[in-house]
Amino acid sequence: MSELVLENLSKHFGDVRAIDGINLTVADGEFLTLLGPSGCGKSTTLFAIAGLDTPTGGIIRAGNNVFFDSTKGILVPPEKRNCGLVFQSYALWPHMTVEQNLAFPLKIRKVGGADRARRIAEALDLVEMAPYAKRYPHELSGGQQQRVALARTLVFEPTLLLLDEPLSNLDAKLRIRARNWLKELQQRLKITTIYVTHDQIEALAMSDRIAVMNKGEMVQLATPQEIYTRPAGAFVADFIGSSNFMKGKMARRDADGTAEVALEGGTMISAIWAPDVKPGSDVLVAVRPEHVRLAVARPANDDFNLLPGRITGRSYLGARYQYALDAGGTSIAAETEDAFDRPEVFATFDRAHAVVVLP
Ligand SMILES: Nc1ncnc2c1ncn2[C@@H]1O[C@H](COP(=O)(O)OP(=O)(O)O)[C@@H](O)[C@H]1O
Ligand SMILES: [Mg+2]
Repeated sequence: MSELVLENLSKHFGDVRAIDGINLTVADGEFLTLLGPSGCGKSTTLFAIAGLDTPTGGIIRAGNNVFFDSTKGILVPPEKRNCGLVFQSYALWPHMTVEQNLAFPLKIRKVGGADRARRIAEALDLVEMAPYAKRYPHELSGGQQQRVALARTLVFEPTLLLLDEPLSNLDAKLRIRARNWLKELQQRLKITTIYVTHDQIEALAMSDRIAVMNKGEMVQLATPQEIYTRPAGAFVADFIGSSNFMKGKMARRDADGTAEVALEGGTMISAIWAPDVKPGSDVLVAVRPEHVRLAVARPANDDFNLLPGRITGRSYLGARYQYALDAGGTSIAAETEDAFDRPEVFATFDRAHAVVVLP
C-alpha cells in the first residue's frame, strides 16, 4: 500500500513561503503531476516527501508509515522512506559504468551476489538499456543517460517514484518519445508516481491527475480534461493553454447550471457557471482561442454566443492564423485556418467552451 498523503504541508525559508498548507492524497499506483511556474514550490514539495528537506509544518504519510509529523516530532530519514528520486540532471556517476551505477544503490542496501546481478539485468531490460551495461555515461546520449538514471532508481524497487523535471534536458522530439515511454513503464509497474514539471503539455499528456500550484499553494487538483475544460480560476485558465478573458458581470444562473453574463460592452453571453459565483459578481469568462470561430456573414443559428468584431491583427502560426479582434471593447484572440480579407467578422463560441472564473 503506497498511497501518499500530505496534510497541511508547509515549508518556509525565512519570509518565503515556498509551500504553504498543501493537502493532497495520491492514490496507490497513480501518476500525479505537480504543475506550475518556476518557483511555485514543486521541488520543495518533492524534497519534503523524499526527506531531503525538513518541512516547517504538517504531515507526510505513505500508507501506514508516517514520514513526517511536525506536532509529534516525527522525522524519518530519507534512506528509510524508500523513495526513488530522479532529477533533471541525471547525476550519474561519471567514473562508473552503467552497470556499476545501478549496483551502487543495491550495495548500500546490502543486496549482493546473484540477487544484485538479476535486479540490475531486470532494471536495464525495463528501460531497454541492457546492451549498454558496460558503457560509461559520457558514451551515452542524453536520452540514454536519462533511462539509466531511471533504472538506477527502479533497481531498488522504490514504493514511491519522485521525478523532478526528468525530461527537460532532452530535445523536443526525444522528449515526446520519452514521455510516452515513461508513462507506459509507470502503468506497467503500477508504481505511485509524483511527477514535477512546468510544461503543461507534458502534464496533460502523462497524468492521471494534475495538481496545479501557484506561489506555494495548490490551486486546482483534477484530471487533465477537467483542468483544461473547467479551470478553477484565471490563473489555471491562463497557465494551461491560453485563454481569452472577457470582463463582465454575472447576471443569473439558469436551472441547468448555465451562467448568463453581461459583458462590459453590454452583450449577453452564456457560459459554464462556477460554484461560489453569485449573480451580481464581477467575473471573467475564459474562452480558448481555438474555440472561437470566425465568420464573414452573421450566422443564422443562435445556439451559441455571438460577438460582432473587427480584426485588428493577424499572425501566421504555420498550421493556422491567430487573429486579434476588437468586439465592442472586448479584445478576443481567435485561431483558425481561414484567411479573411475584410476586417468585419462575427466571432462565435459554444457555451460549453466558455467558463466563468473569478478575476
Ligand atoms: N534553500 C532555499 N532557501 C531559500 N529559498 C528557497 C530555498 N529553496 C527554495 N527556495 C524558494 O522557495 C520557492 C519555491 O522553490 P522551488 O520549490 O524550488 O520551486 P519550483 O521547483 O516550483 O521551481 C522559490 O521562491 C525559491 O526561491
Ligand atoms: Mg524545481
